[in-house]
Amino acid sequence: MEQVKEISPASLLYRARNGYSPLLLDVRNEEDFGSWKIECVKNQVNIPYIDFIEDAEGSLAKIPKADEIIVLCGKGGASAYVADILRSKNIPAMNVSGGMKAWGSIYIHSQIWLRDGASVTQFNRVGKGCLSYMLAAGGECAVIDASRHIEQYIAHATSHNLKIAHVFDTHLHADHLSGGARLAQAVAARYYAGAADMPGAGLSYTPLADGMDFDIGGRALKVVSMASPGHTPGSTSFLFADAILFTGDTLFISSMGRPDLGGHAKEWAADLWKSVHKFGKLGDGVIVAPSHTAGLSEYDADWRVMRTLGELRRSNRLLTIRDETAFIEETLSHLPAEPEEYQKMRKANMGLDSPDEQTMEQWELGKNRCALETARKG
Ligand SMILES: [Fe+2]
Repeated sequence: MEQVKEISPASLLYRARNGYSPLLLDVRNEEDFGSWKIECVKNQVNIPYIDFIEDAEGSLAKIPKADEIIVLCGKGGASAYVADILRSKNIPAMNVSGGMKAWGSIYIHSQIWLRDGASVTQFNRVGKGCLSYMLAAGGECAVIDASRHIEQYIAHATSHNLKIAHVFDTHLHADHLSGGARLAQAVAARYYAGAADMPGAGLSYTPLADGMDFDIGGRALKVVSMASPGHTPGSTSFLFADAILFTGDTLFISSMGRPDLGGHAKEWAADLWKSVHKFGKLGDGVIVAPSHTAGLSEYDADWRVMRTLGELRRSNRLLTIRDETAFIEETLSHLPAEPEEYQKMRKANMGLDSPDEQTMEQWELGKNRCALETARKG
C-alpha cells in the first residue's frame, strides 16, 4: 500500500487535539525554529534542511527513533524533500503541507458562552495566537477583531441564519491584517474603530466612543464600549450582556498588551494602568475574552481561551501590582522586540496600503508579539 506522504495543518491540529504525538522534524533554520513552533506537538527536533543537503547520512543519524515522523519547514517545500529522503531509507515520514505559512492560517471555532439564546463563538487562529469573536442573538450578530480570512465569519453566520449587523476592531492591529473593514463592506454592515487609532485613515469607519452601546438581535443584550487605551490610544473593550468582556489587547490571560508600538511607551503604559483599573467596577464572575493568546498554557480543557475576571485578579501578575509607578516600571522593562512588519501592517490596517496576497502572507508569518514579555513566559 502506498504510504501517505502529506498531512495538512488542519488534520495535524485535529489529531493533536486527540492525542496524536508523532516526532516533529523541523528543518527550518535554528532562529526560525526558536521563534515560532507548532507547540501542540510535544516531541520535536530541529535539524536544518541545509544539513540534509550537505550530509544526508549524518543528519539522518541525528533523528531520534520514532514510530511516526512528520517533517516541517516554512512553506512545505524543503520538508517535502527531507520526507522523501526519509522514506527512501524506509523511515515512515509525512510532510506538513504548506509548512508554517499554512499553519498560521488555520482556526478552531469554539462556542465559549451560551445563555437564553444568545451566544459567543471564539475563532482561534492557533498558529498566530489571534482570537476573534462572533456575538449572536435574535438572528443578528456582531464580529469583533475579524482576521483577513473573512469568509469564515460569513460562512458561520450563514450556517446559523445570522445577519452580520456590526463589525468592530478593538484597536489598530499591528501583528496581523484586519478583515474588519472588508467584512463590513461584504455584508453591508457598519465598521467601527477607535478614532484615536485612525488619524488620516484611508478607509471609512464609524468612530467608537466611551459609553456607546449597540443592540444585537433586538434583545436586551448590549455591547458597551469602554475606552481602554494603553496598547494603542484608541483601544476599546466591549462588555456583552453584562457577562463577557472583550478586552482586545489590553488584558490577556497571563499578560497585558505592550504599550510601545506607537513610540510613546511611557505615556501609553500609564494609560494601560488606568484602563485595566476601569475593569475594577466589574464583578469577579465576568468572563474575559482577549484578542490574543500566548498558546497552550492559556487554553482550557476544550481549547478555549477565557477566564473569569476573578481568576485573572489572582493569576495575572501584572493585574496584582497595586502601585502605578511600579506597574509602569515593570511594563517598560519587559518590552519584546518589534518585528519590522508591524508598522507596515498598522498602515495597511488604516487603509493606507493594499498589499497583495503574497505580501500579506509574508508579513503575517510568526506568532503575535503583542503581549509584554515577562508574563508571556509566565
Ligand atoms: Fe495588538
